[in-house]
Amino acid sequence: MSSLTPIHFADYDPKALSGMTGRVAVLVTPEGSMDQAARTANRLSKGAIARLIESDGFKKVKSGQVVSITWPAGMQAEALDVLVLSRKLTPVEARKAGAKLASVAAGKPLTVMVGNMNKAADLTLGIALRGYEFESHKTATDEAPRAEVTIASKVPSDLEATCAPLLAVAEGVHMTRDLVNEPANVLTTTEFARRIDEMKAIGLEVEILEEADLEKLGMRTLLSVGQGSDSPSKVAVMQWNGGAKDAAPLALVGKGVVFDTGGISLKPAGGMEDMTMDMGGAGVVAGTMKALALRKAKANVVGLVGLVENMPSGNAIRPGDVVKSMKGDTVEIINTDAEGRLVLCDVLWYAQERFKPAAVIDLATLTGAIIIGLGHENAGVFSNDDALCNAFLKAANAEGEGAWRMPLGKAYDDQLKSRIADMKNVGGRPAGSITAAQFLQRFIQDGVPWIHLDIAGVASVKSDTDFAPKGATGWGVMALNRLVSDKFEAE
Ligand code: BES
Ligand code: MN
Ligand code: ZN
Repeated sequence: MSSLTPIHFADYDPKALSGMTGRVAVLVTPEGSMDQAARTANRLSKGAIARLIESDGFKKVKSGQVVSITWPAGMQAEALDVLVLSRKLTPVEARKAGAKLASVAAGKPLTVMVGNMNKAADLTLGIALRGYEFESHKTATDEAPRAEVTIASKVPSDLEATCAPLLAVAEGVHMTRDLVNEPANVLTTTEFARRIDEMKAIGLEVEILEEADLEKLGMRTLLSVGQGSDSPSKVAVMQWNGGAKDAAPLALVGKGVVFDTGGISLKPAGGMEDMTMDMGGAGVVAGTMKALALRKAKANVVGLVGLVENMPSGNAIRPGDVVKSMKGDTVEIINTDAEGRLVLCDVLWYAQERFKPAAVIDLATLTGAIIIGLGHENAGVFSNDDALCNAFLKAANAEGEGAWRMPLGKAYDDQLKSRIADMKNVGGRPAGSITAAQFLQRFIQDGVPWIHLDIAGVASVKSDTDFAPKGATGWGVMALNRLVSDKFEAE
């Protein structure tokens, strides 16, 4: 499992620059103005930074880019990373700059001379987010573990205090990425539950409901998905009670299909290996709960995840079978590959019955259709409540996590009508992501504000992003964390 890059806050002392080893980053504006440490480094390196600034190429360098001067004269450092950065920055721009430094450093020791720049905390968060590699299955790497990053600040202890809650969120993001990147033979339902259970150590209340418990509760649609697998189906409940005693919680509900073969409606072989990320929704819920606990959020939040594996077998559910949900509605299973909604509908119902939540947000890698619609840039956002939805969209935008609202409506819901049961689990090809959301909405009680996030396109991607190497992104942890602090946290 990966751990956060160790980050250490030190006094800003440009006089010590000549003796610093590893990589050293200094700040220069796009107009070519050097801060104190940059001026010192320039003097030590006999004008190397000044020559960079005067070069033709420098005119093309934009704010946020890094120009590396390797083995600079007059310094012990192996590289002088000149971070070109405007003085006025948005938090996301500052994070991207930090992420750039981290990707240039690639795990080598790094000192960043932030001085008294504003947004130094966001820059630090960017370093932490990008300082991630999923290497637990690479044997015989002779690479050293991630080296320490030093942030040299004029106010190191203030900055450290400001960064603490941000780094807690970064830990949550890394947990989500680890879960999503993990192959399905390692991250079984049992192992997933164990990793959630470990979070008792940071103050979460955790319960694991086993098959017999789920049977008693009547969660037949959830159980029907897992019945072809040798891995037992489970529901994990994580509670963080940091808010007022009587305040109704926010409920976060996640799809945790540890592997989705499609079941008897088997998926084609090409690309099936990607379905190891089909527990992405549950991964975001677990990572968000970790972040909230680590930063001791003053809010009541409960996370519930349905952990199942969708396999074909002699015991597997068949197309045409009818099962009864915990709510009592019956579902005709037309396609066993539309399994996520069958898991979520029971967990959503249970969450509302047990916790009477103030709002419910579910996350799921639910449909391939959302990737056709929105690609890998935006998650699909579906909601019955404009105020909650707008608050979420605002939080996602502030965190640089793409999110785009999609419609709901009766005509879409009608596509789910079944000849023999209360509903079918698929509504045909048109508007596949919307009919999936309509299916879920049938399990949302009147008056409960609800958001469904279809994260199939954003949970794991095939190329590097600003904040993560290719693979799991951790999308959603930061937006949800911000929504909690904006709307659910007492001052
Ligand atoms: N887990 C998939 C959706 C998915 C596809 C996630 C691609 C990530 C990347 C989901 O369970 C599924 O199979 N959905 C079907 C629904 C269909 C049978 C109605 C789909 O999207 O094809
Ligand atoms: Mn499926
Ligand atoms: Zn699935």
